[in-house]
Amino acid sequence: MIEPIARQYRNPQGSLRRPGRGRHWRAAGFLLLALLGGPPSVLAEYTDADAQAAQRLVKKRCAKCHGADGLGISDKFASLAGQPAEYLLKQIFNFKTGQRRDAKMQRVVETLSAQDAYIASEYFARLPAGFTPSDDPAAIAAGRRIYFEGNRETGVHNCASCHGVYATGGGPVARLAGQNPTYLETQIRSFIANSRNNDRAMHAIVAPLSPQEIHSVAAYLAAEN
Ligand code: HEC
Ligand code: HEC
Repeated sequence: MIEPIARQYRNPQGSLRRPGRGRHWRAAGFLLLALLGGPPSVLAEYTDADAQAAQRLVKKRCAKCHGADGLGISDKFASLAGQPAEYLLKQIFNFKTGQRRDAKMQRVVETLSAQDAYIASEYFARLPAGFTPSDDPAAIAAGRRIYFEGNRETGVHNCASCHGVYATGGGPVARLAGQNPTYLETQIRSFIANSRNNDRAMHAIVAPLSPQEIHSVAAYLAAEN
């Protein structure tokens, strides 16, 4: 069931088809569904030509905020380097449909085609992630405890069961290791406030975290690589 959807999106030469404007994002939706439920092999068709096109696209349209290296030029911008391609594509799709809101990103994706979204996601996924060292060992230790054990007293679920023991994520689950600590804190607070609500699970999971715990888990994750 997955395979034909992926194939329908590509011509026999293996390059992405360019459907008409309306069908474009519908096709991306199908592709997304295929990716969410599908095996990673669906993604294996990213070609050298795609990589070159992605490099040009990123330089022109993403680098001024996310950096050519994908690490983000400041605390406001997410590090995209090394994140799962499926997760990145889902976020772009969510910005496109307004399910995730950010004025800057929504402006960017307004004119981003489904093909460009796909190759940019694949491109950033292949870049090495960074990390931010911390000079606060107590925060790191407390953050690691939350990450692996949660907090039974307040009902915080552990994070590792979804984001993985190395916090690298996978598929539609975000990589957290090496992410900018300020960005991590902002996103956790947005899930709590429901101003980011493009995922049903995350709100309930992070809602019981205290400000100190948010700070600690972000410090721990940012320093991981
Ligand atoms: C004008 C600045 C700007 C540009 C240019 C820009 N972005 Fe972003 N991007 C942002 C901001 C700000 C965020 C964080 C939004 C938030 O806080 O929710 C973001 C977040 C993202 C995310 C979600 C990351 C995550 O970890 O959830 C993805 C994916 C993304 N951008 C992809 C792109 C791609 C691909 C391009 C180029 C085609 C691009 N962005 C260009 C500002 C920008
Ligand atoms: C049930 C699985 C699950 C658990 C448990 C979980 N997460 Fe998540 N998390 C996700 C998924 C899925 C996403 C991607 C949401 C989306 O599509 O926007 C995510 C996204 C995030 C993001 C946004 C990343 C970005 O780049 O914008 C942060 C931050 C985060 N999680 C932190 C945590 C923390 C901290 C914990 C533990 C207290 C945790 N998560 C536990 C599934 C989970």
